[in-house]
This record gives sequence, C-alpha cells and structure tokens, in this order.
Amino acid sequence: MGPVLVRDADPADLPRIAAIYDEQVRTAISTFDLVPPPVDQWAAKVGSTRPGDHFLVAQDDGVLGFAYSSTYRPRPAYDRTREVSVYLDEAARGRGLSRLLYAELLARLRAEGVRTVLAVIALPNEASEALHRGCGFERVGVLPEVGWKFERWIDTALWALSLDPARRGTPPGRPG
Ligand SMILES: CC(C)(COP(=O)(O)OP(=O)(O)OC[C@H]1O[C@@H](n2cnc3c(N)ncnc32)[C@H](O)[C@@H]1OP(=O)(O)O)[C@@H](O)C(=O)NCCC(=O)NCCS
Repeated sequence: MGPVLVRDADPADLPRIAAIYDEQVRTAISTFDLVPPPVDQWAAKVGSTRPGDHFLVAQDDGVLGFAYSSTYRPRPAYDRTREVSVYLDEAARGRGLSRLLYAELLARLRAEGVRTVLAVIALPNEASEALHRGCGFERVGVLPEVGWKFERWIDTALWALSLDPARRGTPPGRPG
C-alpha cells in the first residue's frame, strides 16, 4: 500500500469507478440506483467541463475511491449550488480517504465561488453522516420514506455546507 494521491479522474478510471459504485448499487442503500448505470453515465460526469463539476479519484497502486460534485437541480438559479458524493472501495474505508477527497473537492468549490454544497444521505449511514459533520456540513432536514429499496422505505437526510466567505469559521446555520 503506497502513498495516496488525489487527482482528477480520467477515462482510464471508468471501469474501477463503475465497479466501486456497482457494488453499492447491489448491496447498499447509499445509492438509490437499483441497477448499475451504464458506463457512459460515468464518462459524462468525468468529462464534464461545466463550472463547479469536478470528479476526483484517490489512488495508491490503483483507484481506491472517488468523489464528485454535480448539478443539484438543472434550473439556472441553482448554478452556484453543488451536490457532492463520495464512494470508497470497501477495503479502503476507515483510513480517512473520504476526508482527503473532500478537502480537495471543497477547496475547488470554494475557490470557484460556489455558495452552498449539499449532500443527500440515505439513512442509516453513520460513516457518511460523521464524514459530512466533520467537514462542516449541517444536517438541515430529513425527507421521510422517499426511497424504496430492498423491500423497505428509506429516509434521506439533507446535509448543507455554506461556503459564504463571510461565514468562514462559523458553523453553517448559526448566527454569525
Ligand atoms: C461513507 C464513506 C465514504 C466514508 O469514508 P471513510 O473515509 O472510510 O470514512 P471513515 O471510516 O474514516 O469514517 C468517517 C467518520 O465516520 C466515523 N464512522 C465510521 N463508521 C462509523 C459507524 N459505523 N458508526 C459511527 N461512526 C462511524 C469514523 O469514526 C469517522 O469519524 P471521524 O472523522 O470523526 O474520525 C465510506 O464509508 C463509503 O464509501 N461508504 C459506502 C458509500 C457511501 O455510503 N457513500 C456516501 C453516500 S452519501
């Protein structure tokens, strides 16, 4: 196990990205996909040049996981809001790699003037909630029973991080 590098994803990473994600599609509620998406879908995300879209991988000898930012909703008034997601290979969890990926991703979004970063977390997911809390996100709401997977209803929690420079150092949602 060598040193871990965080870098932009490239098309050669697509099979590993798909494999890491597809394992979650089949076994977990972290994604509401029910069947593995076509690789083209990942190719479009990796290749996106839209401002505020980034796709990063963490790698040592191979790709260990990925994090990306994308459109929250397509209408243009949402343009300075981004939604983020992170997935690690099972064997790469518990080493702080998601923090490493988010540090780079959030720094890029801050530098671009993104105002609010959102994460949607299907419950329960203690590791993901702890990660987002640790990165300064605040749990701003729960949408009850919006997902149906593995024969049960699933809630999602909405987590938000303000990148407003005037609120730097102030936990989001608190008077500052
Ligand atoms: C969520 C995920 C990205 C976290 O990645 P990670 O780098 O391995 O995170 P860690 O295991 O280091 O845990 C992050 C934090 O959660 C805590 N944590 C981990 N598992 C936990 C558990 N079962 N209960 C409570 N806390 C837990 C860790 O102690 C750590 O807290 P700290 O930052 O305060 O030390 C990873 O578990 C993953 O890829 N899961 C599957 C996909 C997924 O759920 N993605 C998120 C979709 S919203």
